[in-house]
Amino acid sequence: MELPDWVPATMDVSKPSPARMYDYYLGGTHNFEVDRDAAERAIAAMPYTIQGARGNRDFLRRAVRLLVDAGIHQLLDLGSGIPTVGNVHEVAQRRDPTTRVVYVDIDPVAVAHSTAILRHNHLAGVLQADMRDVDAVLSHPRVRDLIDFSEPVGLIMASVLHFVPDSSKPADIVAAYRDAVPTGSHLVLSHIGSNEEPGNRTGMLADFKAVYQNTTNPVVLRTRPQIEAFFDGFSLLEPGVTLVHQWRPDADQELPAKLPPGYGGVGVKP
Ligand SMILES: C[S@@+](CC[C@H](N)C(=O)[O-])C[C@H]1O[C@@H](n2cnc3c(N)ncnc32)[C@H](O)[C@@H]1O
Repeated sequence: MELPDWVPATMDVSKPSPARMYDYYLGGTHNFEVDRDAAERAIAAMPYTIQGARGNRDFLRRAVRLLVDAGIHQLLDLGSGIPTVGNVHEVAQRRDPTTRVVYVDIDPVAVAHSTAILRHNHLAGVLQADMRDVDAVLSHPRVRDLIDFSEPVGLIMASVLHFVPDSSKPADIVAAYRDAVPTGSHLVLSHIGSNEEPGNRTGMLADFKAVYQNTTNPVVLRTRPQIEAFFDGFSLLEPGVTLVHQWRPDADQELPAKLPPGYGGVGVKP
């Protein structure tokens, strides 16, 4: 297979990658046949997967606007994904051009693309890292250059913790980031839920999850109380952890007929 020139030489393109599948859901072009096949199987399993991905991105944009309006001028976006329309730095810097943003992702395509689009943006940077390695992320020179840990930080973990298995102790990872930032810092977090809603095909979520078993990052679904528990040590802002579509919707926001099981919330470190 001939690969486009944006593909990093070391990249394994034989397995679907959740980052590139998500890019496909969002209408992006940085994905391969193996990703599109897996993404189509995920959509067949859970027909509103695309609405779920779009709803998550919209939640993220609304949450970033809230953070900047609350006076947060530095954002650490963990599991930031392949750049798409309305990236975190664009939304934030449109609101306040002095906002500094560091993107962190484990996926080489996400990092290669972020690097390319941030070439001329000296207030934003990207690093390839596993967000579970909290020390490596927090001590990285790019993070140290752009984030001042004596000032409140916006921690973003949007749609990433469902790629972190229980064996990696995700709650401890969130707590380690929380402990590294001062009072007034915010946490934006979203996560796929595990609840089977009435009216859904039985086994829908299990089939969706099964598609991800053969990707570079299998998915772990969690209940809403488990997702809420990630906000331990933060005060949740209203309306708490809700379906992402229902979290402070914009006045003109259209809601899909059936809401996908993606949950999100924003908390402040008291
Ligand atoms: C579904 S995308 C979410 C992208 C973006 N945060 C959003 O909400 O639109 C999940 C991203 O998390 C990344 N990811 C998964 N596990 C990770 C890890 N352990 N460390 C860093 N990034 C990770 C994937 O590569 C992918 O780009």
